[in-house]
Amino acid sequence: MVNALILYKKEFGVVCYIVFFEKVFIITLVKMDRQDYPIMALGGRFYKKNLIAIGQFTRKGELKRLFGLADKMKKSVEKREVRDDLKGFCIAELFYQPSTRTFTSFLAAAQRMGASYVIPIPGMSAYSSAVKGESLADTIRTIEQTTAADLIILRHPEDNSSAMAAYFSRVPIINAGAGKIEHPTQALLDLYTIRQELGRTNGLTVTFLGDLKYGRTVKSLSKLLALADGKTKMVMVSPPSLRLPKDDLNYLIKNKVKVKETADLKTVLAKTDVLYATRIQKEWFEAEGRMDEYERLKGKYDINNKIMKLAKKKMVLMHPLPRVGEIAYEVDDDPRAAYFRQMRNGLYIRMALLRLILKKEN
Ligand code: NCD
Repeated sequence: MVNALILYKKEFGVVCYIVFFEKVFIITLVKMDRQDYPIMALGGRFYKKNLIAIGQFTRKGELKRLFGLADKMKKSVEKREVRDDLKGFCIAELFYQPSTRTFTSFLAAAQRMGASYVIPIPGMSAYSSAVKGESLADTIRTIEQTTAADLIILRHPEDNSSAMAAYFSRVPIINAGAGKIEHPTQALLDLYTIRQELGRTNGLTVTFLGDLKYGRTVKSLSKLLALADGKTKMVMVSPPSLRLPKDDLNYLIKNKVKVKETADLKTVLAKTDVLYATRIQKEWFEAEGRMDEYERLKGKYDINNKIMKLAKKKMVLMHPLPRVGEIAYEVDDDPRAAYFRQMRNGLYIRMALLRLILKKEN
């Protein structure tokens, strides 16, 4: 009798077949692309494009265009302008995972751009037909039909969810967080924040701190920084078991980024321009039944005013949030603490993105 056990490790881009044949077993490794579904580069244009992964950005002009429009949206919001850029358009927001910032800023962005119909559904995993076993491919095609949406914003726990949704959808998909691998709009607002806080995005030393294994924001932002400036230095600070996955590390090295890995934050702070803190992602430990490890690791790198004394006077402290103790409230008044300004930038970036994707003339 032959028993075949198929392990599908999308994170490593490898499908591993273990075939048991009597007492002998054969292991076959098949190299796969990281994604099962094609993802197209932007090629200098946003109009009608999906935004699935940071790798779609290949030209500096794309960021310049997006950030330039985000600057205009910032002024427009500050003037309380009533805009009608997206009059007549319908935007659906499907969230299968919890969210505060991403969900509300996309919703506010769609409304502030004057979209006529906004369909926000934050409880997809509990209240949609997913509970009855409907596939994501069918749900996406359903929403397209029932709402006549012109664009769908999707957050989902599967790594390839957005790529798959884009494959089945006839309207553009924006990835608002996919599994453990990508959160492109967060990376864009993060880079926009660095530009705003420091006046530049080049020649910086960016230190990423915390859960670099499961966190998707670090993976997207580090790739975007590599694109924005080949001379960025990156320091990856994490416990050994939460290091950045090899594929992500190799991507950075291939793109000529100087990367240093360490478990010690204090020794690298004096040379850090941007400190990007992240939370230990409890939900993935839970899913893998490793809560003991979570309890051991949480609180390891908590930042307080004493730690901030070791940092540069002009350092920028960022966090995608939510925080669960990584940054003490006392740090909030430090002028270097940029995380509240950072989340406001999400509104401007998302307003700009919606317009660039939905409107031809811009
Ligand atoms: C992040 C996410 O969902 O990946 N949050 C966000 O969108 N700002 C970070 C996190 O949940 O830790």
